[in-house]
Amino acid sequence: MKRIVILLSGRGSNMQAVVERCAAEGWPARVVGVVSNKADAAGLAWAAERGIATAVVDHKAFQTREAFDAELARVIDLWGPDLLVLAGFMRILGAGFVRHYEGRMLNVHPSLLPAFTGLHTHRRAIEAGCKLAGVTVHFVTPELDHGPIVAQAVVPVLPGDDEESLSARVLEREHLLYPRAVRWFVEGRLQLADGIVTQLDGESQVLWPASVLS
Ligand code: GAR
Repeated sequence: MKRIVILLSGRGSNMQAVVERCAAEGWPARVVGVVSNKADAAGLAWAAERGIATAVVDHKAFQTREAFDAELARVIDLWGPDLLVLAGFMRILGAGFVRHYEGRMLNVHPSLLPAFTGLHTHRRAIEAGCKLAGVTVHFVTPELDHGPIVAQAVVPVLPGDDEESLSARVLEREHLLYPRAVRWFVEGRLQLADGIVTQLDGESQVLWPASVLS
């Protein structure tokens, strides 16, 4: 049984998708803890209501990033995780922290990486005139929003889209893609070699929009 710890800073809809798919599909895994840097994160309350252990490590209580990272790792390691799932965790993690969890930390980012790292991905995609947008699940490396790509989902950018409409379209895909990628990890179906991730059963690592497939 693989032990999953989820890190979040807000709403937690991706966490919910992972928790629910894990239970519904009977993965050989369990979400053993949810930790946030924000005490009022809605996702924490949702997890606590379902009996999942929660913790808060408030970044504002620490003088340095290293001190915050050290406390975060201490709290996380009490749960003995096999996998860390970043689900809207909006703090930059230091290289030491990332190395400690190398090969066992996944992130979801709302763009087709390596395009649009950082914030405001949807607005920037619209402003750049992109015709496609999407979401990426990747292993975390010290460079922000970089790292071996596990899976991507693609959506069209439609005429008249604004940040809100595009982010809603992408989020719907996030909720399908992220649980799928986490399940691959906990079932041992991912291989990472030379920075390239392969799904060992040959299952598609890309979710295309229905309009492309039909
Ligand atoms: C999601 O869209 C996720 O991709 C994004 O934050 C949102 C969190 O929503 N993550 C990042 O931008 C990380 N760089 P959620 O709390 O409802 O899952």
